[in-house]
Amino acid sequence: MGLDQTAAKILKIVSAEFIRSALSSRQFPRDGCPQVAFVGRSNVGKSSLMNRLLRRKGLARTSSTPGRTRAVNYFLINRKFYFVDLPGYGYAKAGWKDRQSWADLIDAYLRAALPAAQIILLVDSKVGATRLDEEGYEYLQSFGATITVAATKIDRLPRGRRPAALAQIRRTLQLDETVNTVAVSAKDGDGIQELWGEILRNLDPGLRESNEDHHG
Ligand code: GTP
Ligand code: MG
Repeated sequence: MGLDQTAAKILKIVSAEFIRSALSSRQFPRDGCPQVAFVGRSNVGKSSLMNRLLRRKGLARTSSTPGRTRAVNYFLINRKFYFVDLPGYGYAKAGWKDRQSWADLIDAYLRAALPAAQIILLVDSKVGATRLDEEGYEYLQSFGATITVAATKIDRLPRGRRPAALAQIRRTLQLDETVNTVAVSAKDGDGIQELWGEILRNLDPGLRESNEDHHG
């Protein structure tokens, strides 16, 4: 059985629709639908991971060039909850002004959405947790956010090195037992089912209803 079929047992994705690209807080939706937001450094794999979770290859735009996502992009899943694709933080090559406006936009989003929104904090498994990731995690925590850490691009690490990479992330970010770490690959699907499990566990039971009604 392929990984995608396994994942389909966890959540049947009836629909995944692009709703809007917000460039300022005035454009954030205010319909009260729950949100799952993907946060992390530029190029860490936020848009790719979202696409993989949704099994929609080109839904969120991805690029090998950092700084691809420049707005807060909202995707409505099963007409019930949002996946929110954010710009990456710490993109060094952007000009100061660009960088500042992205930081302001991310900040505005977090202030508006937290603590209600659930956060997937992405950390590159090969690079490990950096100073920027530490700052990001501390900032998210200060809002009382519900956080799951996704160690991305795990396919780039030989299996034998994966446990140490995860341990480095847990140690550097000083994660406590309440925060789970999931190693994922948007490339080959590793950890996708497990991450869906975490996401669904943190969503209201009503949103998980399509869970049971799909068997293959
Ligand atoms: P910004 O929008 O610029 O902040 O980047 P992002 O975090 O959305 O990253 P994106 O999904 O655009 O991916 C960045 C690069 O990493 C692309 O070249 C992807 O193909 C690559 N990538 C993403 N996920 C994986 C993965 O699981 N494995 C491997 N090997 N490469 C990946
Ligand atoms: Mg992106």
